[in-house]
Amino acid sequence: MRSSGFSLSSAVPFILMKSIPFLCPVTFKRSGVSAPNRIALAAMTNQQSLPDGSASDDEHRWLTLRAEGGFGIVTTCAAHVHPRGRGWPGALGIDSDARLPGLKRLADGIHKHGALSLVQIFHGGARAPSKLTGMPPISASPGNLPGEPKGEAAVEATEEDIAEVTAAFAGAARRAEAAGWNGVEIHGAHGYLPAQFLSPLSNRRRDRWGGSLDNRMRFLRGIFAAVKEAVSPRFLVGVRLSPRNFPGQDAETTCEAFTVARTLIGDGADFIHFSLWDFRTTLDEAEKSEDHATVPRLLDLAVESVAGQCPLFVAGKIHTPADAEEAIQSGADVAALGRVAIPYADWPRRAERGDFVPASPPYPANDLSTAGVGEPFLDYLRRWPGFVEG
Ligand SMILES: Cc1cc2nc3c(=O)[nH]c(=O)nc-3n(C[C@H](O)[C@H](O)[C@H](O)COP(=O)(O)O)c2cc1C
Repeated sequence: MRSSGFSLSSAVPFILMKSIPFLCPVTFKRSGVSAPNRIALAAMTNQQSLPDGSASDDEHRWLTLRAEGGFGIVTTCAAHVHPRGRGWPGALGIDSDARLPGLKRLADGIHKHGALSLVQIFHGGARAPSKLTGMPPISASPGNLPGEPKGEAAVEATEEDIAEVTAAFAGAARRAEAAGWNGVEIHGAHGYLPAQFLSPLSNRRRDRWGGSLDNRMRFLRGIFAAVKEAVSPRFLVGVRLSPRNFPGQDAETTCEAFTVARTLIGDGADFIHFSLWDFRTTLDEAEKSEDHATVPRLLDLAVESVAGQCPLFVAGKIHTPADAEEAIQSGADVAALGRVAIPYADWPRRAERGDFVPASPPYPANDLSTAGVGEPFLDYLRRWPGFVEG
């Protein structure tokens, strides 16, 4: 489990690196920027930032160890763009220029090892509790999110709120570029604010922000356009989407995510990241449909929607090198790793050797600490049944 200090240039024959597709570089066509390989650290909230949202030493170690361990792309946790969008204690903020020194140090630490750096920019919407933000949460529509009766009831975002949040996303992207990051990933997935606008289950508005899919995606498209406007052409602006956000979705609303992806690509997205929770999930597993005739995988639909126009990232149960290879062979350009990257800071380095089979959880607490999991993150992970041993 321990980082081996293994050196890419000394120990891996060049020919072997070339023969592993996910270790080949990927170029972001629109900006011309490249990442050294196709393994990304997926955004993972780790609650290790300082109380004001500034990056801490723990956060720095967590991310830079993964750059050192060979991840070609390193993404921060969800970083709130506005104080009212903060989702967790210990969350990273990118909502103020006061965060710039920590963000700059982080970007420098990641670049030192050759990785491409992304900040995930985020607003929790209904999932930004007032006990953290001091303000009632906003969402597309008032009340609780579908399937979350115990959550805090949100108030409906006004036109002014929508304009303020859009400007906050643009301000966050401007800060990320000023701090030296290579790009941002707009968090449009997992039922947070942009996804609360996208889904007809959480968006019941009758104005220009609700109703048709064109109206429901207006918020995310507006954020995307404002972010693009705020940064230079070489700065990457991608979007993370998830086909499933709330319980009770049917196949039609699941597939809307692919229309959203096509639209954002038309708007100039530098990459699209599909969070699938399991990259092998099929449409009928997602929707519990009775029709088992030719059911496509969500990944196949994602590949079809992106159609090679920009790099496609995919995340969800990519655990072994063989999984990453399968995702790439299926048409994804980048394999994004979540849980397996927690114990294995050097997953890509180990994969280079060709005989790496990562262990399954539970993982010994000591090994997680060695892999750069600080105490606050360890406490958080201990709440997950079966992840931490001892
Ligand atoms: C501890 C933890 C925190 C996460 N935080 C975020 C987050 O901040 N933003 C996000 O988009 N996804 C987040 N996710 C989802 C992961 O990015 C990833 O999509 C998911 O874990 C599935 O990939 P995996 O099967 O490789 O873990 C988180 C996942 C974990 C395990």
